[in-house]
Amino acid sequence: MKKLRIPRHRVNMASPFRFRSGKAMLARCLTLVTGALIGCDAPASSPAKPARQQTEAARTRQTPPAQSRDLAVIPMPRKLLAKAGGFSLTARTRVAIQGYGDPEVARVARHLAQLLNTATGFALEPRAAKAEHRDSKGTILLGLDPALEAEEGYRLTVGSTRIDLRAKRARGLFYGIQTLRQLAPVQIDSPEPLPELAWTIPAVEIEDAPRFRYRGMHLDVGRHLFPVEFIKRYIDTMARYKLNMFHWHLTEDQGWRIEIKKYPRLTEVGAWRKQTIAGHNNDVPRKFDGQRYGGFYTQEQVRDIVAYAAARFVTVMPEIELPGHSKAALAAYPELGCTKGPFEVATIWGVHEDIYCPKEKTFRFLEDVLSEVLELFPSRYIHIGGDEAPKARWKSSKLAQAVIRREGLKDEHELQSYFIRRIEKFLNSKGRRLVGWDEILEGGLAPDATVMSWPGVAGGIAAAKQGHDVIMSPTSHAYFDYYQAKDKTKEPIAIGGYLPLEKVYRFEPVPPALSSAEAERVIGGQANLWTEYIKTPSKAEYMAYPRMLALSEVVWSPKAGRDWDGFAKRVDAELRRFDLLGIDYARHVLAVKQEPELTADGRFRVALRAVRQAPIHYTLDGSQPDARSPRYEGPITLAGNATLTAVAIEAGRLLSLPRAASYSVHLATGKPVRYGRPFSPKYPAARELALTDGRRGSAVARDGLWQGFVDEDLDATLDLGQEQPIQRIEVGVLRHVRDSIVLPERVEFRVSKDGRHFSPLPEASPGQAEQRNETPLPMRFGADANGQAARYVQVVAHNHGKLPDWHRRAGKRAWLFVDEIVVR
Ligand code: ACM
Repeated sequence: MKKLRIPRHRVNMASPFRFRSGKAMLARCLTLVTGALIGCDAPASSPAKPARQQTEAARTRQTPPAQSRDLAVIPMPRKLLAKAGGFSLTARTRVAIQGYGDPEVARVARHLAQLLNTATGFALEPRAAKAEHRDSKGTILLGLDPALEAEEGYRLTVGSTRIDLRAKRARGLFYGIQTLRQLAPVQIDSPEPLPELAWTIPAVEIEDAPRFRYRGMHLDVGRHLFPVEFIKRYIDTMARYKLNMFHWHLTEDQGWRIEIKKYPRLTEVGAWRKQTIAGHNNDVPRKFDGQRYGGFYTQEQVRDIVAYAAARFVTVMPEIELPGHSKAALAAYPELGCTKGPFEVATIWGVHEDIYCPKEKTFRFLEDVLSEVLELFPSRYIHIGGDEAPKARWKSSKLAQAVIRREGLKDEHELQSYFIRRIEKFLNSKGRRLVGWDEILEGGLAPDATVMSWPGVAGGIAAAKQGHDVIMSPTSHAYFDYYQAKDKTKEPIAIGGYLPLEKVYRFEPVPPALSSAEAERVIGGQANLWTEYIKTPSKAEYMAYPRMLALSEVVWSPKAGRDWDGFAKRVDAELRRFDLLGIDYARHVLAVKQEPELTADGRFRVALRAVRQAPIHYTLDGSQPDARSPRYEGPITLAGNATLTAVAIEAGRLLSLPRAASYSVHLATGKPVRYGRPFSPKYPAARELALTDGRRGSAVARDGLWQGFVDEDLDATLDLGQEQPIQRIEVGVLRHVRDSIVLPERVEFRVSKDGRHFSPLPEASPGQAEQRNETPLPMRFGADANGQAARYVQVVAHNHGKLPDWHRRAGKRAWLFVDEIVVR
């Protein structure tokens, strides 16, 4: 379990208010071939031809135009060359295997045949390749090639008469098949046969291999359980995107989830909690659902899942948490704690002080548990947690203090290190390797430990510099329990944070602080799905997808080929597959983006952009658009003030939530601003013109329209370009007390004809009650100018500097958020 360590408004944000470059206009082959480009020998439109045929056939089933998903491979292969033409899959296609005697290769070939047969309705059967198949038409030939170097790589050639897939190992063939499936029309993922389709696979040459050998996804089943069928589906989806490590978080304060034969109370008692938090853990007062909750996975179910994953080249790495996050185990076996208890399986989220006591009895227990775990999980890596283990109990325990003295340890942190080292010794003696969260660095790393770095990357950097292997999994880019939209009120409840797809895509597992030798220690990356606020498979999918796809490209594809716009298009094709597979997902990537531009005559011209080619409908009055609203045909020029709300609609269905933006035109719109004091560079609106861009912020601090001043006043002078009568000046500020964003103490307004001599207008200041109100609200403070003629306008909003006495973080730095200076 993780605490959210970053003050919410400090979380880095991506700016939605960005004028995009003309990347989309690059040649098609370039946008498609973003990896290590080896060329593009086909005219831009040629691969679309076979695709168009299937579009005709597909139209009856409301399927997408195929052009939009040509070569939509995720993760992007290392080298991909699009060619003209394509391979037609028919009932007569032959699946021929070289090396049929290898049972893994034969199994992978059957996987391919089954995958193709389901949607096509064909009855393809893999057979041993004969010499004549080499050149015969209509053959998919696959086999091992020991000359290939990459352990997990493959080479795939799709020509008009045959497909050739080679790999060093069966695992590589499996990955090649996943690529082949993505090259095929999306309908290949239909669970029912679609006999009327023409199945054409565009011609390509691909050489592929992963950037990292550890490519992980995590699932917490301690907080909430998920059915075995869901876990298999999750593993299926991981495998589809070439992820290879499933980190199964099996024990928690709120529930022990794996059957251990020697300690039946772990599941009789430890798997059940009296009730669960309803709402958020931070709510005051906390609310509970009053329902007993629990369950566990039997050893038989575990074996089934491990075998299922192995068949898809996914290793299941179990996590048995110690010494913290162990309250459920203590509830079952109180003698393992430092106090007499009694202990109760936790019903609230967060970090708990009751942890395992470093008794010999505890070590015997843990070794017994791990022995059964090792029997079930062949994974070389075994995760032992190690995070968030408060030391309060050890500080006041005679026994723990005696261990500190006996072992010559300095303090409780070294005792944690001692604890982990003992467990590592045990695991190493069984031929396994220990993985733990950053906190295993406390008091010194165990000699062979691999660190999974989560609060940031500092732990990972420290471990790599000490010569340890590292898996990067920072909250900033890899915590899929974080919100996916800035406006949380429109999202299902989550732990906090903000992690949009685009930010996951920008995840870079190797920090620049590492030398190239140290960088070698970063064996990969992982994203985590903690489930305090995720109770159902459907919500787990909503949180995991499509963010998992961005992760897959981060850990598999070459760093050099990152291309967000291209990726977003490829994601769109995958979402269509998810529709066919009945997998839920978040739709933010399908939202319509607004790209405003201020014209020379001071009006707004707004272009609307969407990833998917579907009709966009919009309104200008703040109402929700539907299919009857005006359809977008090209950039919209707004007559004056307006709220533009847009959404893409396909087959009568809104593809995402509508997105709205307000534009206001006033005397200062687009006029230059001179700053007497600096704005914070941290916020997306850290632009000179943000205060006169005609864009008003919402109650959402991170909506991209607020300019932030920390510990600093706003001191802005506007030049209206010419002298004119002014009626009123207003400044928009945000009140967001919880996030330390407070109203200014007072605001001064001045006007001037020459920019040197300013005359003051009446000051404005908020009342005490207004200041302290906790409801986030955009507000305005203003002054009447009563028609005075002026060219220059000055606004000084005095920041408190430090948060006032009444604030719960009194004395800390106060933020002032400003969105616009409006002059009428
Ligand atoms: C964690 O999130 N505590 C690993």
